[in-house]
Amino acid sequence: MKITSKELRRKWIEFYESKGHTNIGAVSLIGDGTTGVMFNVAGMQPLMPYLLGKAHPKGKRLCNVQGCVRLIDIESVGDASHFTFFEMMGNWSLGDYFKKEKTAWSFEFLTEVLGFDRDKLRVTVFEGDGAAPRDEETAALLKDLGIAPEHISYLPKEDNWWELEGTVGTPCGPDNEWFYPLGDDYVEIGNDVYMQYKKTATGYEPLDNKNVDTGFGFDRMLLFLNGLSDGYETDLFASAIRKLEDLSAKRYGADKEDTRAMRIVADHTRTSVMLIGDANGILPSNVGAGYILRRLIRRAVRYCRKLGVDSGALLSLAKIFIEEVYPEAYPLLLEREAYILDELKKETDRFEATLEKGMKEFEKCVQGIARKNEFMKKSDPDYRDETVIGGKQAFHLYDTYGFPAELTEELAAERGLSVDKEGFGLCFKEHQEKSRALEKGQAKGGLESRSDQAVRYHTATHLLNAALKKVLSPDCNQKGSNINDERMRFDFNFDRPMTEDEISQVENLVNEKIKEDIPVVYREMSLEEARKENFVGVFDSKYGETVKTYSIGEFSKEMCGGPHAKSTGELGRFRIVKEQSSSAGVRRIKAVLE
Ligand code: ALA
Repeated sequence: MKITSKELRRKWIEFYESKGHTNIGAVSLIGDGTTGVMFNVAGMQPLMPYLLGKAHPKGKRLCNVQGCVRLIDIESVGDASHFTFFEMMGNWSLGDYFKKEKTAWSFEFLTEVLGFDRDKLRVTVFEGDGAAPRDEETAALLKDLGIAPEHISYLPKEDNWWELEGTVGTPCGPDNEWFYPLGDDYVEIGNDVYMQYKKTATGYEPLDNKNVDTGFGFDRMLLFLNGLSDGYETDLFASAIRKLEDLSAKRYGADKEDTRAMRIVADHTRTSVMLIGDANGILPSNVGAGYILRRLIRRAVRYCRKLGVDSGALLSLAKIFIEEVYPEAYPLLLEREAYILDELKKETDRFEATLEKGMKEFEKCVQGIARKNEFMKKSDPDYRDETVIGGKQAFHLYDTYGFPAELTEELAAERGLSVDKEGFGLCFKEHQEKSRALEKGQAKGGLESRSDQAVRYHTATHLLNAALKKVLSPDCNQKGSNINDERMRFDFNFDRPMTEDEISQVENLVNEKIKEDIPVVYREMSLEEARKENFVGVFDSKYGETVKTYSIGEFSKEMCGGPHAKSTGELGRFRIVKEQSSSAGVRRIKAVLE
């Protein structure tokens, strides 16, 4: 049963196309803010509005192989089976077919297309509770397909119910899960969720549509089919690992720590490539998703050093993923290769420039603690060793040497120490407040010197941002702006030039909103509220403070420090003067108010 990743991808899509499904391709990995999650954690996530009843432009039967990013397991990366990026083979019925077809097709795909032994398959179904009945129907269908009754088990909600945790208003339901033996254990290979409920604040209510949401783990399936037990031996990773062996002159599998380091470098590099090259791509930064990306890249660099290779290894590996492994499944990566490599290099250079010094600083902290312990023990026999690196010191490493807090924690753990995270959080917050106050002072100073016209331009950027999302794509996001009294510049992600028609549509829409003379409303709220109300902007900070928001009717909602015009009527006529490329995947609009 040897099969390549490319063949498996093709088989999944071809099978579901033969059952009347349309391949919708992989969509952006970056969450759109509607569910409060930063990254796509499941293939159904981008389909949420359609599972809740909206008509999908491509019909009622859809399939794809969808990338997902889950950071929850980042600490486990380095073993044979945890990854920060993985793919899910998915297919959906949006109020079309239901349990009968679904169980039959999952069974047919497993046994006939992939050759799984039907007698070794085990299936679990929902045992029922107050929210939904025991799923006798699915069990009966499975028996009809030839699965022995003793191979079907009923399990409770913890096992056979699927929902996005911590969300409300999202589709969910009972599922059946497929298991197959790997060594001595049965391992889950996929599930079919019968999404016929909506999660409310207090429980569940039925949806109008009975949907199906199927997810089979792509990476795991490759293991099974190739008789492997190590995810890094599949063709998704084999070349990257060979490259690391060459560069380090070490052998994968020979030494536990080296093997772990190779896996971390390969995993983190792949995820970084996917996040930078995504349709809605991000760059390393100190907030939100950008911070996660920074953490991944910096962690990979550190493990490169453990292997004795320089950070150029990340670029060699990135090339392998872009050119060899994913060119067909993620063609956008190939298109943006130069940009991705460039951004990776910038971040690795930035980190390497201070890494050496930061490591010295870290060693000083550790030695300081050791010296103190030694000294104290001499005078006090009951003294217990200090094992915590102070929050201030950890923050200094972050602020001055770019050490993500988690990196310091990891380094500390290697020495049997921990980090005072609370103290770190306090320093972080204090620092943030200081820089906010500074910004405010500058904004205030700026406000005096900032002309009314510049303020109007600022409001115009909000209208433009909203108009681009409406006319081009909801995935268009602001990437930068620059304003003076004469004109505005606005950068956003979009991967082709706009057509004349699109340009005039955007102009017209902005001018329409100016004509409507809509008041610009300022409100402070919690980050949670802003997220719930779909404000756009950078969702940073874990420390739950309030954010400043400006809304222009329902048309534009942004988190922003201001200042703004009182009402859109003040803006005059908006005209786009130029639309051009700014950098790879980023367009720039120059516009004037007349
Ligand atoms: N939504 C289901 C999952 O992610 C299919 O496993």
